Amino acid sequence: MPKTADRKVIYDEIAPQIKALVEGETDLVANLANITAVLREAFGFFWVGFYLKKENQLVLSAFQGSIACTRIDFDRGVCGYCYTTKQTVIVPNVDEFPNHIACSSASKSEIVLPIFDKSGNVFGVLDVDSDELDDFGKTDTEGLEKIVKIVEGII
Ligand code: SME
Repeated sequence: MPKTADRKVIYDEIAPQIKALVEGETDLVANLANITAVLREAFGFFWVGFYLKKENQLVLSAFQGSIACTRIDFDRGVCGYCYTTKQTVIVPNVDEFPNHIACSSASKSEIVLPIFDKSGNVFGVLDVDSDELDDFGKTDTEGLEKIVKIVEGII
């Protein structure tokens, strides 16, 4: 079972910390890197990272975790699905998701959230992977959406 109660407390704690962390720093990658570090340290997620839209692909940006694929086409993977549907996607079992890109066989479930620019276009996605099946739920959606809002404020 997801540790939803505990996680809510942690999301509520880290959101203002992340806001403070990125305030006063204008370099986007530096800020995204620190955000992935906070998320990985706070929750011990298997992989946390950003893919940003560059021309006609999503390109790997700041992340914490094992080596990942560097470029994702919009019609590929959970990240591409999130990009094209412009919605948060939770995949309880990645083996059952068509087109899933397995960067690591240890990744079992994932959540991907879109990040919007000021014009409402998808700027990139935040991808969080777990080595446990069915590890993400409403608490994660709500908690991570708060963090995405902070990112949207600095792009
Ligand atoms: N699994 C993702 C690709 C990125 S990695 O998991 C780090 C996907 O299917 O889009």
